[in-house]
Order: sequence, then structure tokens, then C-alpha cells
Amino acid sequence: MACASTIFAVLLVLAILALILAKAIKLTVASSWYKRRYAKRQHYWTELTALVFEPLKRKLFADLDKKLKEVNGDVLEIGIGSGQNFQYYPHGTSLIAVDPNPYVKKLLKDNLEKAGNKVHLKRFVVASAEDMSCKGKVGVEDNSVAAVVCTKLMCSLTDDQIMQTVQEVKRVLMPGGRFYFMEHVAGSPWTLQYLLQQLVSKSRFWPTVYNGCRCDRETLSWIEQGGFEVVQSIKTWPSWSPEKYSKKHSFDWGTRLKLYIINSMLVGFAEKGKTAEEKKHL
Ligand SMILES: C[S@@+](CC[C@H](N)C(=O)[O-])C[C@H]1O[C@@H](n2cnc3c(N)ncnc32)[C@H](O)[C@@H]1O
Repeated sequence: MACASTIFAVLLVLAILALILAKAIKLTVASSWYKRRYAKRQHYWTELTALVFEPLKRKLFADLDKKLKEVNGDVLEIGIGSGQNFQYYPHGTSLIAVDPNPYVKKLLKDNLEKAGNKVHLKRFVVASAEDMSCKGKVGVEDNSVAAVVCTKLMCSLTDDQIMQTVQEVKRVLMPGGRFYFMEHVAGSPWTLQYLLQQLVSKSRFWPTVYNGCRCDRETLSWIEQGGFEVVQSIKTWPSWSPEKYSKKHSFDWGTRLKLYIINSMLVGFAEKGKTAEEKKHL
């Protein structure tokens, strides 16, 4: 009997500690200290990996210039962080930036300055991609942008948030406008990489350590269900050779394992169709 009550007391203490820990993590993640730190950390990481993603981004944005001439309007980048895509944008791009973390703005401005007059920031909207209407404040209007860009955002969203984000993208795109995406997703089923991705994501280890990020996302299925007229994409495994990885961080076994786990990228675009009425006027 004494033994049972000791076990009960230990379990109760553990449950209370778990609750306190969960609350503490929630408060920390919501604090401005954490958001500032996270913005800097993301910026550091994207600079480290810029060369790895360069060939993918060149391919992804190859026809952005042509598309913007055809549809003629602003580019909206969601989850923009410090702005790592400006070198792929056409000269004279008018940009609307969306990110819920206000502390990315300073880093974004630095990168805009580096881009010179190539990219003009029309508006920075502090919002989540899954709700850009920003009720009451200036958000992003229906049918108002020619292209939406999204790189390395959806891995950190829940399934519901991804679904809502895809709907928001469709809402804000002009007819004929394009959604460009580059996301890390689940690899080919039942490979060692796939199994590791499932293990670290489903155990909640990866999301806890990397701010909600998961490596087992099937993002394409959400985009395909989004009601776009055309969806084109490829899944690819970029080369993480040490020369491509910035020398600022050691390329040790821990880093290699981490990179192996996340290294399956989805790159493509989805296009919003025109209504029958709009097609008549072409
Ligand atoms: C991994 S970083 C990627 C930044 C940038 N797109 C890039 O390719 O380097 C993810 C960014 O998405 C932002 N973010 C997180 N949750 C978001 C949400 N629900 N809606 C929009 N952006 C979000 C974060 O603040 C962060 O800046």
C-alpha cells in the first residue's frame, strides 16, 4: 500500500513538472527575447546554407520575370524571415512581406539595402500566412498580388495551418498568378531517411528542438487539394558537400546527420486559374 502511494506521489510530481515545463516553453516561445533570438538564428542558418539551395532557387524563379510581365503586380513573400530570395527577383520588383515575427524586419532591411534598387518593399505585414486579411488592419486583399513566394515555411506549420495558408495564397493571388514554393518534406517512403524523419517528427523531438519544424510533411498533397488550375513540382535531394556548406560552422557528424534528415526538398509552382468570364476577355 505504501509502495502504491509512493508511485502515485512520484507520478503526480512528474505530471506537475511536465505541465510547468510545457507552460514555460510556451511562454518562452511567445517572448520577444525568443523571437529576436530566433530571427537571428534563422538568418545565420539561411546564410550557412545559401549555396546549397542556389541551384534549386535558380530553377524555381527562372520564369518569375516573364510571369510578372504577364500578370503585372506585386510579389508577396510569406514567412520571409531575413529575405533570402532577392537575388532571384527581377529588377524593380514591388514586394509585400509577411512574417509574424516583427524582429525579422531589421535583418530584412539590411538585405533589402544589399539588393539596392532591385526590390522595393511596399509593405511589411506582421501576420501569419494562414490569416493575412488582418481584420481591421491593413492586410493582403483578395486577388491583389501577381506571385506568392514561400520558401522553408510550411515545415513549421500544422496540417491545419498549411491548409489555411494554401487557401489564403489562392485568395490573394490574381487570376493567372503563381504560387512559388520550396519546402523540405518527407523523403521517399520507407527509405532510411524517411524512417528517421518519421521517428524524429512523430516523437516530437525535432519539433521541440526546432521551433515546431517537422521533417515528415506531405506538403504537396495540401497544395494539390488547394484548387489551383496547374500544379507542377519535383522532389529533389540537393548536394550538401562541405564546399557548399559555409565554413562558418563545422561540418561534423552531428551536422551531417541533421542535414541528411532534412534533405528532401519539394520545389514547384501552382497557378490560380482564370474564371470563364475572365477567359472570355483574353
Ligand atoms: C525557416 S524560416 C524561413 C525564412 C525564409 N523564407 C527563408 O527561406 O530563408 C521560417 C520563417 O517563417 C516565419 N513563420 C513562422 N510561422 C509563420 C506563419 N504561421 N506564417 C508566416 N510566417 C511564419 C518565421 O518567423 C520565419 O521567419
